[in-house]
Amino acid sequence: MRFVISVIFFLVFFSCGDAYDPLDPTGNITIKWDVMSWTPDGYVAVVTMNNFQMYRHIMSPGWTLGWTWAKKEVLWSMVGAQTTEQGDCSKFKGNIPHCCKKNPTVVDLLPGVPYNQQFQNCCKGGVLASWGQDPASSVSAFQVSVGLAGTSNKTVKLPKNFTLLGPGPGYTCGPAKIVPPTNFLTTDRRRKTQALMTWNVTCTYSQFLARKHPSCCVSFSSFYNDTITSCPSCACGCENKNKCVKSDSKLLSVVGVNTPRKDNAPLLQCTHHMCPIRVHWHVKQNYKEYWRVKVAITNFNYRMNYTLWTLVVQHPNLNNVTQVFSFDYKPLVPYGSINDTGMFYGMKFYNDLLMEAGPFGNVQSEVLLQKDQNTFSFKQGWAFPRKVYFNGDECMLPSPDTYPFLPNSARRNIFGFSTVIYSMILVLIGFW
Ligand SMILES: *[C@@H]1O[C@H](CO)[C@@H](O)[C@H](O)[C@H]1NC(C)=O
Ligand SMILES: *[C@@H]1O[C@H](CO)[C@@H](O)[C@H](O)[C@H]1NC(C)=O
Ligand SMILES: *[C@@H]1O[C@H](CO)[C@@H](O)[C@H](O)[C@H]1NC(C)=O
Ligand SMILES: *[C@@H]1O[C@H](CO)[C@@H](O)[C@H](O)[C@H]1NC(C)=O
Ligand SMILES: *[C@@H]1O[C@H](CO)[C@@H](O)[C@H](O)[C@H]1NC(C)=O
Ligand SMILES: *[C@@H]1O[C@H](CO)[C@@H](O)[C@H](O)[C@H]1NC(C)=O
Ligand SMILES: *[C@@H]1O[C@H](CO)[C@@H](O)[C@H](O)[C@H]1NC(C)=O
Ligand SMILES: *[C@@H]1O[C@H](CO)[C@@H](O)[C@H](O)[C@H]1NC(C)=O
Repeated sequence: MRFVISVIFFLVFFSCGDAYDPLDPTGNITIKWDVMSWTPDGYVAVVTMNNFQMYRHIMSPGWTLGWTWAKKEVLWSMVGAQTTEQGDCSKFKGNIPHCCKKNPTVVDLLPGVPYNQQFQNCCKGGVLASWGQDPASSVSAFQVSVGLAGTSNKTVKLPKNFTLLGPGPGYTCGPAKIVPPTNFLTTDRRRKTQALMTWNVTCTYSQFLARKHPSCCVSFSSFYNDTITSCPSCACGCENKNKCVKSDSKLLSVVGVNTPRKDNAPLLQCTHHMCPIRVHWHVKQNYKEYWRVKVAITNFNYRMNYTLWTLVVQHPNLNNVTQVFSFDYKPLVPYGSINDTGMFYGMKFYNDLLMEAGPFGNVQSEVLLQKDQNTFSFKQGWAFPRKVYFNGDECMLPSPDTYPFLPNSARRNIFGFSTVIYSMILVLIGFW
């Protein structure tokens, strides 16, 4: 039995290798170019980036978008974003383009830039909220004026090889595709205009491209057993074990120790799991018709504040969440009928910021769930989540045979038959 389970998990692991997230099967970031006008030597386009991922946002220092021009195009100017390098514009006299590189690299502007450099939905330092958490903040846009390009929808050549860092690796972008032109409503909503030409690029995320190890782990405890099942050892890789700092180290009082690095290199507290994030799920109380769970997220990175954090949990009883005490909660129903996944996130201005490691580096909440008498059980690890994601990355769970178990309950087959069926469904969907 255990062998079968291992094989299934192995298959699930590899079927997920191709940017497929079973809990958000249509999640993607779409980059849309709307050509708004033709110019003597090219066009002006509005580039809009929409994050359609339910629970994966782009954190500070934000996105970086790149592409390769199909011909000898140049960027005369940009509003609401900028390229990181100008490149060689030596053959231009008089008007010097904003960027002459064959493969420009674009970043967002920071909040507070002068009004004449702003564009609607720009200038957020490249931060994009997830669709599930805040659709209004899940969009970023800027305007480009392209020269030495085609000047009609027959002669324009679409840019190629789009790349997206969000802010690290993990995204893969498909080719640009011509789509029906976008319609725009005037502000009084009485007139409709349309883009002269529109193309879309879709980028999807794969955790396996992003990093070698998970970036979070899960630990468990329960009221019915004193055992605390801690995170697996080296869950997030132990290569940097010699660079971690002990929580009582004098180093931590040095000024500037918390300052984030340009490359975002973490400074981790020494733990046996070496994860920047730990999620703890405690089965706290049992009532006649309800049960109560306490969820705590702890930050072990001294150099990172997590803004707009999200926690996704898959558990069969999430179809009956009665109350979530100090997080916001939203059910995610990726397959329409299976309501077993939900997203927790911080309440605005209360705990939407998960502070750097230390005394304030944690957020917690309690969840009250109504029992479905047919399926509810404390046996065989049923009360623990099947999958946990922090900020869109899947966290490593303890091995099923270490879950706290009910005194006198059989130890074998803790993961249960339904999980096997579930895994098979995922494998089938993954291959399909
Ligand atoms: C991208 O996401 C949107 C919204 O979920 C979805 O409608 C669309 O089909 C997705 N596109 C692709 C190519 O998966
Ligand atoms: C193109 O992208 C926009 C979002 O920017 C989306 O609303 C639209 O449905 C996409 N079109 C196609 C055909 O995928
Ligand atoms: C280009 O424009 C013509 C009309 O000006 C239109 O009929 C055609 O569908 C457009 N082609 C594309 C690819 O947008
Ligand atoms: C785009 O990328 C592909 C594969 O990475 C490469 O073969 C091709 O030369 C690139 N095209 C351009 C125009 O850079
Ligand atoms: C986290 O936020 C607090 C309060 O805003 C700030 O004092 C601290 O320097 C920040 N830490 C990091 C690592 O950015
Ligand atoms: C999913 O469960 C939540 C309660 O956790 C409920 O509010 C929501 O209506 C359910 N959605 C569907 C589609 O069943
Ligand atoms: C919640 O549980 C109750 C009791 O088992 C059940 O009647 C109800 O249908 C459940 N709600 C959902 C959304 O499944
Ligand atoms: C609590 O669970 C652990 C396994 O996770 C088990 O070894 C231990 O015997 C359990 N305690 C009791 C009192 O059953």
